[in-house]
Amino acid sequence: MNFDVELNKKIEEIEEIIKSYLPKEEGLQKTVIEAMNYSVLAGGKRLRPMLMQETYKLFGGNGEIIKPFMTALEMIHTYSLVHDDLPALDNDEYRRGKKTTHAVFGETMGILAGDALLNYAFEIATDALVSAPDERAAKAISILAKKAGIYGMIGGQIADIEYEGKKAGIDVVEFIHRLKCGALIEAAMMIGAVLAGATDEECEKIEQVAADIGYAFQIQDDILDVTSSTEVIGKPVGSDDKNEKSTYVSIKGLEQAKKDVLEMSEGAINTLKTLSCENIFLENLIKALINREK
Ligand code: IPE
Ligand code: IPE
Ligand code: MG
Ligand code: MG
Ligand code: MG
Repeated sequence: MNFDVELNKKIEEIEEIIKSYLPKEEGLQKTVIEAMNYSVLAGGKRLRPMLMQETYKLFGGNGEIIKPFMTALEMIHTYSLVHDDLPALDNDEYRRGKKTTHAVFGETMGILAGDALLNYAFEIATDALVSAPDERAAKAISILAKKAGIYGMIGGQIADIEYEGKKAGIDVVEFIHRLKCGALIEAAMMIGAVLAGATDEECEKIEQVAADIGYAFQIQDDILDVTSSTEVIGKPVGSDDKNEKSTYVSIKGLEQAKKDVLEMSEGAINTLKTLSCENIFLENLIKALINREK
């Protein structure tokens, strides 16, 4: 099957999984649930659940336990975007080709919908553990929690905000990128590996692969913020410049940034190839991210 056809088929399958977990829009909390579902259903590439599922398959996983974790991670990612777009952070009005959650539902609901998505993610993941208690699921929850927290995504967001208007060096930008973006990509692939029963050594290798994919992914995001259009990426271009962020592109320049995305991604694929198992779709997915246009 052609890569793009396969990719779109997988996105559709992931969306069906996510939809099956969404809360019903009812009760006195209806507005916040509508805001949650609006953000989750707005689209997006579904990269993190896809990387999780493909890593799970790489290590021979074929059960249902992956589904609640795929959904939980996409909910945490979506909450991070809802909060990232708030006036107090990047103050952006478009996301995934639609008005941002706070632009539609107001700032208060934007904050609460983000909180609710984060919490709901852990409701789903811990329910999965309770219904099928095993060490792998417990480890997966621990990874999810850590990679979303102050030593993960939130840690990167904090530094990103504190360095607005200041000149950050490449070491600081690397810290920001590896945490704000890389950490959830690490969570995706590590959870896939852990749930499939990969060894500790294999999990460490996967963490390294995912860290490089995540760093490259954020550099490409910085590139697109300069070179793309709102129509293509579904969110405002020039957001980094507007907020006086130090980005990989502002430090290294566009051409070097493009070269480094290629080099880091190839490095990730090479490390992946040192494993005794393989998943060709996963390799092609990493390759496709190098020149992604959105
Ligand atoms: C956007 O992530 C935020 C970053 C970490 C760069 P994505 O580019 O994966 O956003 P969606 O999920 O496709 O909307
Ligand atoms: C944010 O990075 C990453 C998150 C944790 C949400 P950006 O601020 O560059 O992400 P976009 O460009 O708004 O998607
Ligand atoms: Mg941001
Ligand atoms: Mg942003
Ligand atoms: Mg960006």
